[in-house]
Amino acid sequence: MLTNPPETSPSQEINQSLAEFCKTDGAKKFHRQRHLLDTGGLSQEEVQAILDTTKSAKHIFSKNKQPLNLLNDKIVATIFYENSTRTKSSFDLAARNLGARVIHLDVTTSSVTKGETIGDTAKTLVAMGVDALVQRHSSSGAAHQLQSVIAKPISIINAGDGWNAHPTQALLDLFTMEEICKNIEGKKVAIIGDIKHSRVARSNIRLLVPRGADVHLCAPPTLMPEGIARMGVTIHDQLSPAIDNADFIMSLRMQTERQQDGLITSLEDYRRLYRLDHNRLKTAKPAVRVLHPGPMNRGIELTSELADDLDISLIQQQVTNGIYTRMAVLLLLLFSEDGTR
Ligand code: NCD
Repeated sequence: MLTNPPETSPSQEINQSLAEFCKTDGAKKFHRQRHLLDTGGLSQEEVQAILDTTKSAKHIFSKNKQPLNLLNDKIVATIFYENSTRTKSSFDLAARNLGARVIHLDVTTSSVTKGETIGDTAKTLVAMGVDALVQRHSSSGAAHQLQSVIAKPISIINAGDGWNAHPTQALLDLFTMEEICKNIEGKKVAIIGDIKHSRVARSNIRLLVPRGADVHLCAPPTLMPEGIARMGVTIHDQLSPAIDNADFIMSLRMQTERQQDGLITSLEDYRRLYRLDHNRLKTAKPAVRVLHPGPMNRGIELTSELADDLDISLIQQQVTNGIYTRMAVLLLLLFSEDGTR
């Protein structure tokens, strides 16, 4: 008579295989850092650990959507002082997918409206036992400021601070590009649009340049930050040379809420000179792929036809991969086999 092999439930197997990813040197190093404030300063080992864990989370979780119990002793708080659709819901799903409990602080109805500082708001959540704070704020440096006032060993994850950084967006962008090209080294990545006000552009540059990508930026001169070429990128004020032979083109939102009047002559002029469409992509690599972090202004940064062309546009993949990237970041920062941080 045949006997059945000892049973491991699918969820036990999944937990074991994801937990394995926390044991590499890069993963351990990232875990010890405790925070993710930006992509600059991450070693290649740490970046690789995040990408590998993202890949594994995607592989496992797209087959089995049941929450895992890797972080079921953890509490993750999200504090968004700025609006968000993608990033906030993606962190929420990522944390719940790993079994964590999630609190969303609604800043419009919280004591922030009574003048409480971001430090005191965060300390209040920490006193309630929160293990990670995911914060978005309109001021550059807000995540670093939080790190300097929070003494307890909790993780601070920057979900976007002013014009400065948006590390999980850059990591999910890199993951999405490397799903297509395997390795971004030597690939031409053109970033087009409102670079000046873009934390997405800055975090991408700090991630892509050390990884060996050939990064080109293109914007009207008034939307190109002074001195940015020092970050190891090539700058253009015209679209054609930026996208010639490009492997990937990342279009950025015109962040009109951050712009002073007069930085561009008109949206119509911007559209005429910089909007991406199928025709303009003809000089890029034949297999060029287009990204956009969202939210997009259809018809201004790129045409609707291009945004919805699934052979070229990676916009939906970016959103999907965002959940797995944030699962990887939360897992690597918070998971420990003995239940301690
Ligand atoms: C970006 C952001 O908020 O920084 N979006 C996002 O997080 N997906 C880009 C933007 O606002 O244009």
